[in-house]
Amino acid sequence: MTPSEAKERIAALRAEVALHDERYYRRSSPEISDQEYDQIKRELSDLEARYPDAASAAGSDTPTARVGDDRAEGFQTYRHRQPMQSLDNTYSEVELREFHARLVKLLGRDELSYVVEPKVDGLAVSLTYEKGVLVRAVTRGNGTEGDDVTANALTIRALPRRLRAAEGAPVPDVIEIRGEIYMSTAEFERINAARDAEGEERYANPRNLAAGTIKLLDPREVAERRLEIVLYGIGACEPALSGGDTQSGYHARVKAWGLPSVERLWTASGIDQVWSAIGELDRMRSGFAYGTDGAVVKLDSLALQREAGSTSRAPRWAMAYKFAAERAETKLLSISVQVGRTGVLTPVAELEPVSLAGSTVSRATLHNRDEIGRKDIREGDYVYVEKAGEVIPAVVGVNTARRQPSCVPYVFPQVCPACGSPVVSVEGEVALRCPNYECPVQVRRRVLHFASKACVDIDGMGEAMVDVVVGKGWVRGIADLYRLSREQLLTLGKSVEKSSDNLLAAIERSKRAELWRFIHGLGIPHVGAAAAKDLALRFPGLEALADSRHEDYIGKDKESLIAGIGQTMADAIVTHFNQPVNRTLVRDLVAAGVEPARPVAAAPSTGPFVGKTFVLTGTLPSMTREEASARIEAAGGKISSSVSKKTSFVLAGADAGSKLEKAKALGVAVISEDDLVRMLGGG
Ligand code: IVH
Repeated sequence: MTPSEAKERIAALRAEVALHDERYYRRSSPEISDQEYDQIKRELSDLEARYPDAASAAGSDTPTARVGDDRAEGFQTYRHRQPMQSLDNTYSEVELREFHARLVKLLGRDELSYVVEPKVDGLAVSLTYEKGVLVRAVTRGNGTEGDDVTANALTIRALPRRLRAAEGAPVPDVIEIRGEIYMSTAEFERINAARDAEGEERYANPRNLAAGTIKLLDPREVAERRLEIVLYGIGACEPALSGGDTQSGYHARVKAWGLPSVERLWTASGIDQVWSAIGELDRMRSGFAYGTDGAVVKLDSLALQREAGSTSRAPRWAMAYKFAAERAETKLLSISVQVGRTGVLTPVAELEPVSLAGSTVSRATLHNRDEIGRKDIREGDYVYVEKAGEVIPAVVGVNTARRQPSCVPYVFPQVCPACGSPVVSVEGEVALRCPNYECPVQVRRRVLHFASKACVDIDGMGEAMVDVVVGKGWVRGIADLYRLSREQLLTLGKSVEKSSDNLLAAIERSKRAELWRFIHGLGIPHVGAAAAKDLALRFPGLEALADSRHEDYIGKDKESLIAGIGQTMADAIVTHFNQPVNRTLVRDLVAAGVEPARPVAAAPSTGPFVGKTFVLTGTLPSMTREEASARIEAAGGKISSSVSKKTSFVLAGADAGSKLEKAKALGVAVISEDDLVRMLGGG
């Protein structure tokens, strides 16, 4: 490679890595497997090392020198007291042994002790406890500052709001505790099963769903999906921890304070023991609650860790050894293109069935047109299939050695496979869409969603029935459901008389479903059930919602005027109703006699404070006690007038009296107004 070729390749790889970083960290929707990503990044760092001049000629900004950035819109950012780093990784035993050899040389010792921990496949988070009380949860962000996701993290049931002081583990004044937020495979399956039932697309894998969930703007929506957490490290700590001078000591402390810690931990002296611990981890990891894509090997001695130091992005004293994903090779029989509820076209690989990681795979995702082009995947090719995030299979590459001359490059359809409309690309998105609102597949999915249990709940209007009524042309949109006639249904045969009557009765009943069910059923992007409930509290009906304007949602200082509805949702709602078809639908529903039931305000059953009892005392600096109470209740908490052992928090202001004393005596957590605001996700 000439220097100028190297420079060009480096620039191209940097752009590619930056693109994948953006998709993984910011949008939680990567297009390639972790292994493919690691390969590209490895090629880049090798070239940068081999051609340093070419690398600097290509500019100083390189993704190999920094950590991926997860910061997203709508969150306050917060600076970590101690930066959060990333990890170097390898898939090779040889390189792992080289890592050890480097440390032996650097530290001038023959024998080194390590801990081997599971590498948890989630998203990194830093928790700050002040005087033992959880005050903040912040994502890694760019390593220096991250997003404040406290309100969302508080939905995690196993996360203690207060550290438990234990013998040998006193609670420090201020401490940052680091770990990983994840979603269990069981919860991921539960959510996807519900999506299936509603005719919605399945989520790709637990890691991305967890990362997307922690960045939702509405904690109540977060609470509907159960997130979990595991803690494995310590950042800043004041006063410094005494006595605990090892990584394994950190783990013991984390546990003693009552925080969830890794399921299994090995201490190993020398690299051979490390290697056998990794083998053991590999054999048992399928039984862990979280996805584990590797092992993290860390020097046990904190003194030696300090001596080894760090580069700009990762410590020299740790290394992630990643398990190669199970991979199978099979024939790609054909590529089919699916149309989603909003018209997004997703290419799917139809495969010769092959067994992979314990199941038989005959379909796999191909993500989108760009990915097929980038990998040059052709019908008739032999392809490699992997389980990305260990759940959904994906085609990761082609065995070009087995390619037949008859295989021609794949041409993505220019028209929608369902309705023949020319497809369009949407700015800022890789996806192609079918723009036809009346496309039968989109109609089918929209109607199915609207009629599902999660929306207006029309019993009998499941997949099969929706296929019939859409197929017959009786239903071209949601409102047509209310125009279905007995005569039409009876043409389906004599035997359906009873079920037709039942169906018509269910349709009639649904006209009076609660308002939020209709709002959810409209399929407004970003508006899930929880947001629909918030909207239903604020707007008297569908027409008022359709007439809403940006000012109804966002105030002059960019503050949100309707609890639970942030900027993104506000934009989505207004944009949705700017489209005439969506306004027409609302008008048609009302004309068809739909009369949604108005909500009765009740204590929310979800929210960061569900199950928490608060006692207020003293004068708060900026809120009245009534205001504070209202905000706590809106977040699912209860207000009580007296302090007991069962009290979760005492919110104390100036001149607090006996309640504060009692809280202290009982060891109940005392918080300030600032703490409250932070816990609610503001400030
Ligand atoms: S230690 C300075 N330990 O992997 C050390 N990280 O690929 C930084 N991760 O950013 C982290 N399990 O989000 C550590 N047992 C573990 C881990 C772990 C998962 C994540 C973490 C980190 C990423 C790097």
